[in-house]
Amino acid sequence: MSDNRIILSGMQPTGRLHLGNYEGALKNWVALQDEFEMYACIVDWHALTSDFKDTSELPERIRQMAIDYLAAGLDPERTAIFVQSHVKEHAELHLLFSMIIPVPWLERVPSYKDKATELGLDSYGFLGYPLLQAADILIYRAGWVPVGKDQLPHIELTREVARRFNTLYGDVFPEPQAKLTHFPAVPGLDGRKMSKSYENEISLSHSEDETRKRLKRMFTDPQKLRKGDPGRPEICPVYALQTIYNPGHETEIAPPCRTGALGCVDCKMTLADKLNDTLRPIRRRRTELEGDPATVEQALTVGADRARARASATMVKVRKAMHLGT
Ligand code: TRP
Repeated sequence: MSDNRIILSGMQPTGRLHLGNYEGALKNWVALQDEFEMYACIVDWHALTSDFKDTSELPERIRQMAIDYLAAGLDPERTAIFVQSHVKEHAELHLLFSMIIPVPWLERVPSYKDKATELGLDSYGFLGYPLLQAADILIYRAGWVPVGKDQLPHIELTREVARRFNTLYGDVFPEPQAKLTHFPAVPGLDGRKMSKSYENEISLSHSEDETRKRLKRMFTDPQKLRKGDPGRPEICPVYALQTIYNPGHETEIAPPCRTGALGCVDCKMTLADKLNDTLRPIRRRRTELEGDPATVEQALTVGADRARARASATMVKVRKAMHLGT
């Protein structure tokens, strides 16, 4: 099935995306839509596996994520951008998988036990998280899933689910492969991985001013206290961003940082300009879309219709293979 050109990818609706989400996933999806038939799913049911108590912000988080997808260049004419809960077939396939998959397969998934204790999660749905993900992928009979390394155990489980189904009922599902892409590490303002939960992010939706303000308080080499002190670009999180957004980093930033001729404030302001230049077109489209809710909604409707067409065709095969009613 190496000629399978279908891609399914998913993200939990965390709301507005930050640079880490963009560099690590979204930018890559935008590039992949030229070559593949893409399904970009906003997995709201998955969000409920941990955040089920207060669901009132879910619609706005979904909307903001859809705006970021469109602003970043996902084209709704080519890519089906849709919300998981709009395509009920995912739930039906998940239910059928739950009948044929042994519970220990799910308990064995790395991170399950850790996360369950760390976050105090004990729901049935949380245990089934990776099985719902398998349904998301297999219902499109996708060949490829662009994900980060942390998701590899989930893709492996998805392959095992496909094999078990095919062995029991006949060939319905191709075994999807992870599509790992190399992307730069994106440190947040405090030097840790950029993450909404650390509140150290720079978002696609931040204004140019806000971006500048945030960069001003970003951590640098702790040994470089003032201009004149020699700095160490290789351990500096601001320099890590320079390597992504400033093509001249090797000649214009690293050498004068090392000698002390370049101070951190100037370095940060150069970075702010480069970053703002890079994000300007995305932010412009973002503002337009914020003022045009109908376009966003329309994209999600069209996306769900396209996704449903493919998902329901798969379900016809599944029900037939399992001798179930249609
Ligand atoms: N588990 C994924 C994550 O946390 C989100 C996800 C759900 C997903 N369903 C998917 C990713 C299907 C890829 C394909 O990032």
